[in-house]
Amino acid sequence: MTATIIDGKALAQTIKEELHERIAHLNSKGITPALTVILVGDDPASAVYVRNKHNTFTQLGLKSDVLHLPADITQEALLNKIKELNQDPLLHGILVQLPLPSHIDSHTVIDTIAPEKDVDGFHISNAGALMIGHPRFIPCTPYGVMKMLATQQVPLRGAEAVVVGASNIVGKPMALLLQKEGATVTICNSKTKDLAAHTKRADILVVATGRPEMVTGDMIKPGAVVIDVGINRGEDGKLKGDVEFSSAVKVAGAITPVPGGVGPMTITMLLVNTIEAAERQL
Ligand code: GUN
Repeated sequence: MTATIIDGKALAQTIKEELHERIAHLNSKGITPALTVILVGDDPASAVYVRNKHNTFTQLGLKSDVLHLPADITQEALLNKIKELNQDPLLHGILVQLPLPSHIDSHTVIDTIAPEKDVDGFHISNAGALMIGHPRFIPCTPYGVMKMLATQQVPLRGAEAVVVGASNIVGKPMALLLQKEGATVTICNSKTKDLAAHTKRADILVVATGRPEMVTGDMIKPGAVVIDVGINRGEDGKLKGDVEFSSAVKVAGAITPVPGGVGPMTITMLLVNTIEAAERQL
């Protein structure tokens, strides 16, 4: 038996087509959804992500600006720039690409973004809203994963879900969303003893560690749904997930590939959040 491959690229395309109508409605009211991405410094991976976001937005007729700031910018200057953007009535979304240089405190920066423009859903008040079960903006990657699970009609109520990785960007919000839908959720981290004992129990396994191919087929329950959030560049230049695809595909019931799985969904959900932010102005 080999697993069903969950095609994130195709699902992202379908969702984008469904957004046309909402964009046209906003346009008819004189509104063009607009995002500004702030990129600090010259991290090559961040530059690629930012370029992909920009291209996706402009292809759909949304407004997208990239504000590229030098790596040695002071925290105060960055905060002032964000405060200025907060005041712009024609701007609906502000995203600060992470990671930031080490002299800047990312929590302070994120919490300076107006919560109603925080399309990443990282602001402390948006994180809190999600925690109490009333999300305002759902972080894009876990939001995309939930869409994939819904499209695959994966039963969540009563399911055993294991999330490997406890970041604020993916692991923690992912766990909250799965729990909200009635899954029994375990969050594993780098200190978890006997990781395989946990992952082998999972009906739904989400891996977001940034450690290439750390989950192998022998750690997966036969028939499980495996969601690989990792994007790692191997020494051979090829992209690799956090799951070893070749062994996992033989055991899982369904699995996301890398590339073409979670990645395209993340950008698509950023579109959804930005359109949502603009619609709230109607
Ligand atoms: N860096 C890696 N993933 C993300 C993301 O989803 N949003 C932002 N702002 N930075 C990131």
